[in-house]
Parts: sequence; structure tokens; C-alpha cells
Amino acid sequence: MKTAVIGSGAWGTALAIRLRKNGHDVTMWTYEKELVEEMNATRHNPRLPGAVLPEGLVVSEDYACARGAKLVVMASPSFPLRNVSRGVAPFIDADAVVVSVTKGLEAGTHLRMSEVVAQETGKDVVVLTGPSHAEEVALDMPTGLLAASHDQALAEFVQDAFMSDTLRVYTSSDPVGAELGAALKNVIALCAGITDGLGCGDNTKAMLMTRGLTETARLGVALGAKKETFTGLAGVGDLIVTCTSMHSRNRRAGILIGQGKGAQEAMQEVGAVVEGYYAAGSAYALGKAKGIDMPITEAAYRVLYEGLDVKQAFGGLLHRDRKSESENPGWL
Ligand SMILES: NC(=O)c1ccc[n+]([C@@H]2O[C@H](COP(=O)([O-])OP(=O)(O)OC[C@H]3O[C@@H](n4cnc5c(N)ncnc54)[C@H](O)[C@@H]3O)[C@@H](O)[C@H]2O)c1
Repeated sequence: MKTAVIGSGAWGTALAIRLRKNGHDVTMWTYEKELVEEMNATRHNPRLPGAVLPEGLVVSEDYACARGAKLVVMASPSFPLRNVSRGVAPFIDADAVVVSVTKGLEAGTHLRMSEVVAQETGKDVVVLTGPSHAEEVALDMPTGLLAASHDQALAEFVQDAFMSDTLRVYTSSDPVGAELGAALKNVIALCAGITDGLGCGDNTKAMLMTRGLTETARLGVALGAKKETFTGLAGVGDLIVTCTSMHSRNRRAGILIGQGKGAQEAMQEVGAVVEGYYAAGSAYALGKAKGIDMPITEAAYRVLYEGLDVKQAFGGLLHRDRKSESENPGWL
């Protein structure tokens, strides 16, 4: 099958390698025109050191590479996704299946990434997400992903395209939950990093992850997601991998912030897209708009966007009113 991966960051590259190994024709579009020749010649992408681009995976700077593809994978970071989708849209075939693998929410509109791609391409966009470091997928380390769509046939098409001996792709009928789980866990991962940077321990992180998931699911359900999706690969699965691994840029940025660096300085030091920073702005706005209690997200927002001291923000969370864990404890 002819496929196109639009975006050559670490994740687009890992997925392009997977598709090629699965026997598909793959062209990977890159924003970095200056790297096209180098990648085609050396079979390496500096965005994913150590990974080899298999023969037959072609790198192109031309959006027209999507022409004729039956599967088009949108893999840019969230901030340029609308522009990139607009650029490639005229070249997407009427019968092509379009997938979004970007994790985030659009600044300003707070739209999910598949909604942004759908607006620009007119397609019913499938969401492919889950706990997956590009570095590990490129090395064929066993990984589980979720292909989510309201349309079962579309979800199964994407499952078939990516599934391999080491990549298990599950289907889901809840793209809203899949995308919100993926986008919002980045905010919690930043906070988990902050607690590491502050010198806290595993207990703290476990509390933060659990309570973070609770407020994420609360917002998700208010926005139409199924609660159970947050206990699956796109929810707790992605939360575990992002909050506990040093592959996670969100966690690494959080550690630097916890150690006293400003948000911009920390992101510059990490040197790759830190989606949790952007998602925190949208999550905070959505929570306010829906009247959802999201104390961890609010603390993250105040630290990242208003310069609140991290120790003060963290102290504020610890000194909230005492409460029951469950909103419906079941006592009479
Ligand atoms: N890295 C992972 O392991 C991983 C796993 C799952 C999902 N994701 C998601 O995939 C998305 C892409 O992340 P990544 O890790 O591949 O990114 P990356 O940080 O490795 O690379 C960023 C890419 O964005 C491109 N870019 C920069 N400015 C641009 C612009 N103005 N227009 C278009 N492209 C531009 C760069 O050329 C580069 O290819 C993110 O939403 C991320 O959350 C990443």
C-alpha cells in the first residue's frame, strides 16, 4: 500500500520505519528541507539518532508526496499542525484514510488534533496514540497503541497497517478520550518532573499521577469521552510511560523547572517540542469553561504561564481542603 507520513520528527520517523518494515511504500514529508538529501543518502535522521531508515523509505519536502497514498499519517507537533494539514490537503486522495498521531490541543481554539486535521482536510480522522517512545518503537521494542475512531472499519484499517510482531494495535470507538488522555497526560508529566526536580520521592509521584488522572478523566467525560478510556493505553498507560521515563521531554522539562529554571529556559534546554506546556494552557481554559475542578492543571498553568514559584504552587496543592477520594463515596 502507498503511504505518506507528514512530519519527520522522532515519532513520524519511527512510524514511517514501522510502515516500511510492514511492506508498505512510504514517503516521509519533512519540514526540514535542508535535511532531505542527507536523510536519503545516510539513511539516518538526526531527530531519531540510532534508527536506520530502511531502503524504500523516501524523504521528500514536497506535500505532493501524499498523492496516491491510501494512508496519510499526520505527525507534526501540535503548533504547526493546522498549517501542515492545509498544505497537504489538496494532495490527499478522496479514498485515503487520514490518521493523526500528534498529541496536544490547539492553542486558542482548544480543538483536539484530529479535529484540526478534519477541518483542514475534510476527512474523518483516525487517532493513533498510546504509551510509545519513538526511540523504543524504532528499535522494535514491544509496544501497544490504540487506533480510535467512531468508524470501526477505519480503526481496523489503521490497526492492520501498523500491527506487527512487536507493535500491538488495539482499536477503540472513543477518539475523544484517546486524544484527551494523550494530550492532558503531558501536563501531568510536566508536574511529575517538577516533583522530581523538587527532590520528592516515588510516593509523591504516585499521588500526583493518580490525582492527575482523576482530574483529566473528569474533564474528558465533560467533553464527551468515555471514562474507561482513561484507564486504558491512552490514559493510564501513556501516563505511566511519560511520568516515569527519561525519554519524556515533558518530564525532563518539569525536572528543570523543579530545580528552579523558568519554563522557557527549561524548554530550550530540552531542545525538542514540549507538548505539555501548550496543553496546560488549553486544559486550564477548558476546565474553567466547563466548571471542572482541576487543581493540578491549574497549578501547572500558574507556574508555566504566570511565573508562580513552584514551591508555592506545590504547597498550595498539599494544603487544599481535606476531601474524600471519590466524588460519590457511597456513604449514606
Ligand atoms: N517522540 C515520541 O516518542 C512521540 C510519541 C508519540 C507521540 N508523539 C507526538 O508526535 C508529535 C511530534 O513529536 P516528535 O517527537 O516527532 O517531534 P520532534 O521534536 O522530534 O520534532 C519536531 C518536528 O517538527 C518539525 N517542525 C518544526 N517547526 C515546524 C513548522 N513550523 N512546521 C512544520 N513542522 C515543523 C521539525 O522539523 C521536526 O521534524 C508530538 O505531538 C508528540 O507529542 C511523539
